[in-house]
Amino acid sequence: MSKSKKILVTGGAGFIGSHTVVELNQAGYEAVIIDNFSNSEKGVIEQIEKITGIAPKIYEGDCNDIQLMQNIFDQEGLFAGVIHFAAYKAVGESVEKPLDYYHNNLNSLLILLRTMENFKVSNLVFSSSCTVYGEPDLLPVTEESPKKQAESPYGNTKAISEEILEDTVKGKNSNLKAVALRYFNPIGAHPSSLIGELPLGVPNNLVPFITQTAAGLRERLTVFGDDYNTPDGTCIRDYIHVVDLAKAHVKAFEYLENQGNDSFFDLFNVGTGKGNSVLEAIKTFEQVNGLKLNYTIGQRRSGDVEKVFAKVDKSEKLLNWKAELSLDQALKDAWGWQKKLSNIK
Ligand code: UD1
Repeated sequence: MSKSKKILVTGGAGFIGSHTVVELNQAGYEAVIIDNFSNSEKGVIEQIEKITGIAPKIYEGDCNDIQLMQNIFDQEGLFAGVIHFAAYKAVGESVEKPLDYYHNNLNSLLILLRTMENFKVSNLVFSSSCTVYGEPDLLPVTEESPKKQAESPYGNTKAISEEILEDTVKGKNSNLKAVALRYFNPIGAHPSSLIGELPLGVPNNLVPFITQTAAGLRERLTVFGDDYNTPDGTCIRDYIHVVDLAKAHVKAFEYLENQGNDSFFDLFNVGTGKGNSVLEAIKTFEQVNGLKLNYTIGQRRSGDVEKVFAKVDKSEKLLNWKAELSLDQALKDAWGWQKKLSNIK
């Protein structure tokens, strides 16, 4: 691979974005970030530099700002491609503010695609989600498993975005080559504890809630239901270490570059292929970190699926990617990051 291929990373200061910038730097790419810091902090750039020795260039602004997007493509010269993370991602908030979600997540994708077309940039890696599978009829889910009606506007923006990409590549004269990565449940943090997740307010997701409870920021964790049809009654998910997930983006990018010039769209599951229950996640967290967690069993959360985990053969075969880090490691790293945030020795 020739060194210093430039990649635009939208939302590159965020949780998955920042870990991907680290992996891109370490693979010899030059990452250029655009981020409006609506759900991230500026300090992350310095931390990326501490890990990789390289401070990525950053444009502060919104991907919905068409003028800014054009200026970036203009100033930076030819991008080898784009990895598009920038989006809102809070399920509950999307139910309360659907228009904000449709506008932000879809409009920014449309502006990006238009700008890529204008500047003849072909390669795109898009952040999608296993949320498009809803409650699957068969497990593990493959990329061919049917998409289900989204439970939330957030989920719908992912489903619609995939359709936008699918239609765009079929357009006359399209030069777009795009892959959507369907993330399962990203958790953990960089093992250096220099970057990680920074949830705004009360976390909705399980692992940040666990680590904040362990740190004493939350009184107790509520397990949302133990009457599901699973071995221990709690929901099952495919928890993937964010560093593995970040590496999948580098592999997806290499995959795009290795294809011919014909436009195409393809989808890949990015998970471990293994399902763990909520109680297993809690017990593993306690065990690997030598802690006791204050938790209680509560009501089901509406909109939760019972079980979902990935079949990852397609990613292994075509992207030459496989998750390598364990749940133990992810939960150790998640706690390492929380200790850093909370100043716990
Ligand atoms: C959620 C979203 C999903 C999104 C993903 C992004 C919902 C319904 N789904 O996935 O669309 O792509 O985040 O990361 O919000 N749990 C508890 N107690 C808690 C928090 C969670 O028991 O305080 C349980 C949940 O019931 C679930 C599991 O932990 O069984 C994982 O929850 P979460 O981390 O929120 O992820 P998902 O719901 O799978």
